[in-house]
Amino acid sequence: MITFVGAGPGDPDLITLKGQKKLAQADVVVYAGSLVNPEILQHCREEATIYNSASMTLEEVLVVMIEAYKANKKVVRLHTGDPSIYGAIREQMDELDIQGIPYKVVPGVSSFLAASATLKREFTLPGLSQTVIITRQAGRTAVPEKESLRLLAQHGTSMCIFLSTHKIEEVVAELIQGGYDQNTPAAVVYKASWPEEAKVVGTLETIAKQVREAGFTKTSMILVGPFLEGPYERSMLYDPTFSHGFRKGTESRE
Ligand SMILES: C[S@@+](CC[C@H](N)C(=O)[O-])C[C@H]1O[C@@H](n2cnc3c(N)ncnc32)[C@H](O)[C@@H]1O
Repeated sequence: MITFVGAGPGDPDLITLKGQKKLAQADVVVYAGSLVNPEILQHCREEATIYNSASMTLEEVLVVMIEAYKANKKVVRLHTGDPSIYGAIREQMDELDIQGIPYKVVPGVSSFLAASATLKREFTLPGLSQTVIITRQAGRTAVPEKESLRLLAQHGTSMCIFLSTHKIEEVVAELIQGGYDQNTPAAVVYKASWPEEAKVVGTLETIAKQVREAGFTKTSMILVGPFLEGPYERSMLYDPTFSHGFRKGTESRE
């Protein structure tokens, strides 16, 4: 069996129990070494054969996984965070489908969630934001024009911008062109959940300078939106006047 596993954002304890069990049983592990914390490999058996996919092509990764599968071995393909977000997992699954090879996916804690935990913030606040946009600035991988930061900024909601800290000035310029005020709260979290985790918190006006001074380039998450600072309404769920399926309130509201 081949299992794709989300390793989580860095802290080896942030893999799921299911993912850890899969790693502990694996005969062959192919891990994304450019981002996965190698400490997570402590969950593997000593006899497991470990490959770092950082220097491999898609074809090479597939050969390793498929040959191991055909030799009746248990294979784990270990991706950083959750594999469904900028994980390049689909092209692997599609080839396995073509070859009729079964596989499963075990999700992981994505880095945008680790970043909100670092900042102790909630993306979805009543009266402020009920939508989270996950996106990136175009790089060698293009972003469709209708998903440009300038257009997404028009929603004024909570945004998590992956893979873009090295272009922070461009990001800020596009967000402001799109309609965010320069006083909009912004933060960048470097290596969320790793021992060397660091953060800067400011506004769109200040964040680029803060990021440059802190020296963050790779493995950083840009978070933007009023959820970082703005006033919000308390939740209906825990409002004493509000009734719902699990609790009778003092007054029923629609
Ligand atoms: C190729 S993407 C992989 C994302 C991953 N699948 C996930 O769910 O987090 C790599 C980008 O994720 C972000 N990233 C990954 N780990 C991070 C962490 N621990 N802290 C902050 N950002 C992180 C950075 O923006 C980095 O450039």
